[in-house]
Parts: sequence; C-alpha cells; structure tokens
Amino acid sequence: MNEKYEEAKKIAEKYNQEHLLNCYEKLDEENKEKLLDQILNINFEQISELYEKTKKTSNVIPGEGEVKAISYIDKDKISEDKLNEYRKKGKNVIKEGHYAVVTMAGGQGTRLGFNGPKGTYNLGDGIKKTLFEIISDTIKTAKVENEAITIPWYVMTSRENNADTVKFFKENNYFGLPESDVDFFIQGELPMVGKNGKILIDETGIVKEAADGHGGVFSAMYKDGIVEDMQKRGIEWVFIAGVDNILAKIVDPIATGIAIDKKVLATGKSVVKANAKEKVGVFCKKNNKPYVIEYSEITDEMAEMINGDGELIYGESHILCNLFNIKAIESMCKSTLPYHSAFKKAKYINEYGELVVPTEPNAFKFESFMFDAFERLDDMAILRVKREEEFAPIKNAEGVDSPETARRLYLDFMGKDYIGK
Ligand code: UTP
Repeated sequence: MNEKYEEAKKIAEKYNQEHLLNCYEKLDEENKEKLLDQILNINFEQISELYEKTKKTSNVIPGEGEVKAISYIDKDKISEDKLNEYRKKGKNVIKEGHYAVVTMAGGQGTRLGFNGPKGTYNLGDGIKKTLFEIISDTIKTAKVENEAITIPWYVMTSRENNADTVKFFKENNYFGLPESDVDFFIQGELPMVGKNGKILIDETGIVKEAADGHGGVFSAMYKDGIVEDMQKRGIEWVFIAGVDNILAKIVDPIATGIAIDKKVLATGKSVVKANAKEKVGVFCKKNNKPYVIEYSEITDEMAEMINGDGELIYGESHILCNLFNIKAIESMCKSTLPYHSAFKKAKYINEYGELVVPTEPNAFKFESFMFDAFERLDDMAILRVKREEEFAPIKNAEGVDSPETARRLYLDFMGKDYIGK
C-alpha cells in the first residue's frame, strides 16, 4: 500500500472511523484517490464534536445574552421625499457598477422533490420560466431601471449540482446576460454521520458529504476567489438571497440607500410574521447585536408579546434577503459559522458493502445558517417590506410555499399584462 493510504488509515483509526477504508480495494483508481483525499482533509475533531452535540436535547444553543426587539423601517411608512433620497443614493451605487447579486442555489431542495437543481425548476402555467430565468429577468429589468453598466451575478452551487447548473446556464445562453457577468462558486461540504457516530460511505464507495448550509456562502466566496473578483470590479454592495423566492427584490436601491444613510454595513429585509405561531425566524437584538431568533428558540411568551400598537414585538420575519457591504463580507468570510445538525434520510453503504435505502431519518447533516453571521455586525438596518411584493417562496411540492402559491403571488404582483415566455 502506498504512503497516502497508510496515512489515511492511521487517521481513520485514530478517530474510530477505520470502516471508511473497508471497500477501498474494490474502488477504481479515481475513487481510491478521492477517498484518501477526503480522509486526509476531513476535520475529524470537528466532526466528533458536532456528533457529540447531537446527543444533547437541543442542538440549538441560544447562548447567554439579553434579547430585545430590533428597530426597523417600514417601507410603507417612509415619506416620498425620504424614499427618493434613499433611492438616489442606492441608484448611484448600482448605476456605477458597484453592486452585485449572489444567488444561493446549493441546497438540495428535498421538500420540492424536483429531480435537478432547484433553479432549473420550471414554473409552468402562465409563467413558463425557470427560477434562474426569473432571477435573470429581475437583474435585466434592474439594469435598465438603474441605468447600470453592469450587475455581476454570482451563483453558489454545491458539488452535487454544480455541473448541471453551469450546463443549464450555457444551454440558455446565460439568459441574455453577458457571460463575463455571471460566475459560479461551489459551497463547502461536511461528512454525514450515522446515529452511531460513524461517517457514512456513499453509493460510489467514498465519504458521503453534504452541502454545509447557506451560512457556507461567506467562506465559499472567499475560497473560490469571488471576494477577490468583487474587489477587482469595485463592488461595494452585495445582495445575497436564496434561489427560491421568485419575488425577491435582489437589486434594491432603497435598501442600499438606507444602509448608506444609516452608516451600517447591512440591510436585512423582513416581512411581518403572519401570526405568533408561524414557524419563521425573526430579527431581534442579542447582546445589542443583530440576531435572528429561530422559531425553535423563541418561547411562546416572547412570540406572543405585543407592543402598544398591537403588533408582535418579535414579528419581523427573516426572509433570506440581505444586503451586505463588501467590508462586512471581507470580515465574515475568513471564519466559519457555527453548525446546526439536522436528522435526515441518507442512502449509504453498510459494513457488509450493501446499499441501505432508509425509510426513516438515519443520519446527521451539519449546516450553518447565514443569519448566524449577523451578530458579527455592530448593527444592521431592517427594512420591512410587503409579503405580496417581495416574498413568494417555493419550498414544498404542494400546499403552503409551493409552486402553486408562488405562481399566484408572482402573477398578482406582475399584473394582468404579464406574459410568460
Ligand atoms: P432551504 O433551507 O429552504 O433548503 O434553502 P432547500 O435546499 O432549498 O430545500 P430543502 O430544505 O432541502 O427542502 C434556502 C436557500 O438556501 C440555499 C437553497 O438553495 C435555497 O435557495 N441553500 C441551502 C444553499 O445554497 N446551500 C445549502 O447548503 C442550503
């Protein structure tokens, strides 16, 4: 056996993961190399710590700290003069080419159950466009509205969906955008771990890894040279959103103008929580820093607290639509965010070399959330926008937040003259 194998074996044994090499001899040369590289690169200390944490009743550690309401700006209540002032400030940034968009499209889209990258899902009926095309439409329209010379678009993919995503963009001629203004970067991954703490082997015989959550966006942007590219292009403001909110206003002069005016390095958009029990994360302040408190963290009492106007005190839902100054990204991208664990169904090869297709969740996946980065900022502006104008998410195949509900919201917003392809 070669030296690399011996080294990998030693490490695997040290961490009680020697089963990872059980099928080594049966692999072809390429996968042998891949497996050894994986083992040499895995941070086993980190994985065992994350696994140990899963044994505690809750993997969410709210931590110490005083939680209080965060102040926000309700877009609907801004005076016309002030709106124009913000718009002007933001428009200047966009017009001069200092604004970029990042779309996080590395998720697995398991709830939608579509076979392929979520961004390539076609909305059909009345719209007949894929999620990526809808985002490209938003960028193209914003370019015209803001007379922008360029609005670079960076798409975060995962190892699993990168090739299909890039191919889709090529086949669609980058939706008419200049190819030089579209770039892709691949997010990080972490091994999946079984209930017994053993790292899983996938169907091809190598370590089963899964995307490390949307919080991986900052470190991936750094590692893949995206931050550097932005610096070279003179980008100052970056809007980061998921791929699946088809009404996301990702080029937003007002959100930009507000951040500039308030001298903060980020603006987070919120929509009013539908009711105290809605399962969404809400903006708040923790230890005087911006924070998103998840629905699993918030007590019933806090969730139901109302102010003098009868509004929920913790009622500003986080919708994964946030604008960052490049300085904030530069400081956040060099370290990783904390990981949360989720218990999922994952196919794997067992110790007898057999494929196991579970019907129940069987493995831990570790993910970081982008909103965990907010507390690294001194402050951020929160801009409350209207659900019907900026929030039409596609999460489930049917029912709430499905293609059906998003299609309705999109068509209502676009107006009766909207014609799909
Ligand atoms: P969700 O958390 O809703 O996940 O992602 P999802 O992958 O779309 O769907 P499920 O949970 O598997 O059903 C919100 C946004 O963050 C992106 C997704 O692509 C989506 O745009 N995301 C999520 C990533 O880019 N990477 C990740 O690791 C996770």
